[in-house]
Order: sequence, then structure tokens, then C-alpha cells
Amino acid sequence: MGSSSFSCSLLFLVLLGLVLNVAVLCNGGKTSNFVRPVEKTIDMPLDSMFSESLLATMLLNSTTQILLCSWDWSHNKAILVYNPSAVGPDAPYTFGLIGDLGQSFDSNRTLTHYEMNPQKGKTVLFVGDLSYADNYPNHDNVRWDTWGRFTERSAAYQPWIWTAGNHEIDFAPEIGETKPFKPYTHRYHVPYKASGVLLHFGKYTPQYKWLEAELPKVNRTETPWLIVLMHAPWYNSYNYHYMEGETMRVMYEPWFVEYKVDVVFAGHVHAYERSERISNVAYNIVNGKCTPVADQTAPVYITIGDGGNLEGLATNMTEPQPAYSAYREASFGHAIFDIKNRTHAYYNWHRNQDGYAVEADSMWFNNRYWHPVDDSTSSQS
Ligand SMILES: [Fe+2]
Repeated sequence: MGSSSFSCSLLFLVLLGLVLNVAVLCNGGKTSNFVRPVEKTIDMPLDSMFSESLLATMLLNSTTQILLCSWDWSHNKAILVYNPSAVGPDAPYTFGLIGDLGQSFDSNRTLTHYEMNPQKGKTVLFVGDLSYADNYPNHDNVRWDTWGRFTERSAAYQPWIWTAGNHEIDFAPEIGETKPFKPYTHRYHVPYKASGVLLHFGKYTPQYKWLEAELPKVNRTETPWLIVLMHAPWYNSYNYHYMEGETMRVMYEPWFVEYKVDVVFAGHVHAYERSERISNVAYNIVNGKCTPVADQTAPVYITIGDGGNLEGLATNMTEPQPAYSAYREASFGHAIFDIKNRTHAYYNWHRNQDGYAVEADSMWFNNRYWHPVDDSTSSQS
């Protein structure tokens, strides 16, 4: 080999090394290497999902204030009973986060872990896909009822705030069911009429106009934390439902940055992921700026679609991990968003295989309106 071809090979190796280094440096935060069991996720049998303990518990709680009566599914017996919390901008409050729950044995583990978590969530923020009844022949509505009984042990005693997911649509013209969301809206009385419709978020639709008018009305002195729930995530580095939320992101993301949304929770992808604070509001297609950038004025995006439904885990991730992704792991679990006061909240995610108090991922949130300091958790951001 001549000296010129040797130096060419050397140059090639150096360049290859640089390219590989760039690939490593482009990696985002942490991809968990947690080893999880691989047995199939299966639904609990029908006869295991009855709860008869509610009446006795209601009597024990008779001195607490009844704030809201709701739900009227097949047994017409659910009632919501809870102690009112302190109010005010610095009042602490603890939310649970659950998504894509279903009614499998893994769903039961997720709900049990939420109930046994020593942080004691007071309200569940549910990011869509409740019963998965539509996975059964003829969208078997018995599975809507069994899901109500399964979650009753928590939902009867604390509020669950619902987001509709694609498994709530139940549109089945082949069996004469042509009204979308019928089983869901008959069982779960959500205030969707205020925004016009459940579907159709496109530009200048009633829902678009509703959100455009609603966001400026949020008084951050009365409501310091601005939390958004949606079903399909805007930022997702799994090879499932990749960029399905893109049309919605293009329309609504500038508002989320302008109105200082603190955090956005989504489901849909059956795994866990937390982003850094990022935005992609500069992208207008022709300028080519399609890579999300670190942006401390933007929300953190969290995918919590890991409730444990029968469809199983999303395990396939894009590689390398994008810079915007702070932590990702394909395990079932739930999360807690623990508001301490108007400036700080402690967030943590729990995988089902761990003890009830174990945190697999966590982050201190600094409120974007009251205390907008850098709270990133990855060195790259
Ligand atoms: Fe789902």
C-alpha cells in the first residue's frame, strides 16, 4: 500500500470516527435498560370484576363532604365522596397520571400501584383509552361495564378527569352503531359540549375557536399550574403512532408556548417517555427547521400510555434517542404530579415491577409563569 492510499484510509477512519461520535452526541437523555417480563398481557375474566364493598365504605365516610354524584352504569351505585382540599394558589395538590388502562392483569397492577403509592394521589388525570371494549366482537359493551366496576374502587372515592382516546370512538356502522363515542359519553359525563364537539380539532373548528378563547382566560394567580391532557402525543420517539399528533401540534403548539403551559400529558403509545422543554414553533415546512429545539418557555411532554391494556407494550424505539427525549422506558406504570405551591411541583413515574414507593424517573418542575428558571434534566439540552 502506497503512502497516499494509507493516508486516504486513515482520513476515512478519522471521518468515520467523527460521524459515529456525532451519532453518540446526538443521543438525548436516558433509554432505560430495565429488563421486564415478556408474558402476554391478557384481560381479567368477567367474573373477577365485581365490587360489592362500596355501600359499607360510603357509610364509614358519611361525615365527609359529598361534592359530586356521578356515574350511572349498570348497577347504578357509584358515588363520589371526598374531602375538599385547601384552596388558594399555594395550596398543595397531588394528581395521579394513568393512561390506556384497559382491564388486564397488568391494568390491575397499575391501579393497585397507584392506590398503594404513599404519595396518595387525590385526583386521577386520565389520558384516554379506557376499557378497550372495542377490541371485543361487536364492541362488547359488557366490557365497558366491567371496566367501570374495575376502576370503581378508586373512581368512587376521588375524581377521575377523562380524556377521550381512539378506543372511545366505538364507531361501528357494520352493526348499526353510527354515533361516535356513544358508550363513552353515556357512561362518562364530560363537559365536551362546551368546546362544541369531541372530534374535529382542525383550524377554525368549534374546538379550535373554543381553545383560542379559553387559554387567554386562565388566571394564573387563581390557577398557577396550566396542565394539558391529550391522547396522541406530539413528541414521541417510539416506532408506534409516530407523528400522529403532528397536525394538531402545528395548530396548537404556538398557543402552548405563548400561554406558558407547564406540562402536557398524553397516552396512545403504550410506554413511558418524558421530554425536555422543547418546541418546534419555528418550523413552517419551507424553512426546513423541522428539528425540535430546547426551549425553556415551552412545556415538558410526557407520554404515560403505559396503563397495561391487552394490546401490550410498545417496545420498539427510534435510534439514536432524540435530544428532546429525556427518559424513555417500555414498562407499565403510573405517575404522580405533586404540586407543592405556585412555583414548584415534584413529578415521578413508577413502574409496576418495583415497590410502591420506588421512583423510576423523576423531575422537579418550576412553574413557567411564576418561576420560569431552567429545569432541564439532560446535559445536552
Ligand atoms: Fe391505547
